[in-house]
Amino acid sequence: MLRETLQRDIMDGRPSELEAHSLNKFEKGVKEVSEYTEIDGRPYFRYMAPLITDRECLKCHGHQGYKVGDVRGGVSLSVSMTPYLANQRRQTITYSFSLGLLWLFGFIGSVLASRQLKLRIKERDRAKKELQRSHEQLEWKVEERTAELTKIKYSSKRLRW
Ligand code: HEC
Repeated sequence: MLRETLQRDIMDGRPSELEAHSLNKFEKGVKEVSEYTEIDGRPYFRYMAPLITDRECLKCHGHQGYKVGDVRGGVSLSVSMTPYLANQRRQTITYSFSLGLLWLFGFIGSVLASRQLKLRIKERDRAKKELQRSHEQLEWKVEERTAELTKIKYSSKRLRW
């Protein structure tokens, strides 16, 4: 997961293109370099900081002709992003799954609710129709009764004549 490389000296080892580039930047006073990059086709986060000569260093390295402030190399750190990305992908999958589940529940819920509603509406329509029918029957009966009564009234009137 953690791949550390200690680039001890510009002349030492074989600095990668980025490292050589960073060392050039350090020579110009840049304090640190970091970037997302690919190593062997895999994502990495890389960080580099210069190894700058201070007075302490000269106690032992003074005879090598370095002065305080000289860049003696850089420390470079490469962190593989693969586990992070895999983790992120896992999280995304979990998240989408729970979101999908939530949606499904919501969907099922709304389907059930609308079915229930439709049933209620049907029931209400049936009750309304029945009510209307009995109302009509009642009206018809009243009319019939009224007609009968009128007939009786007329006939009784006629009788009085
Ligand atoms: C206590 C003594 C001491 C101090 C202080 C010290 N070094 Fe060193 N350094 C050494 C020794 C010993 C080596 C090994 C030399 C070798 O392998 O030829 C070394 C090696 C190195 C190398 C590798 C050199 C090469 O050519 O491979 C670098 C770069 C370096 N030191 C930088 C520094 C810097 C920068 C400092 C200050 C922050 C520092 N050193 C402080 C003793 C010291």
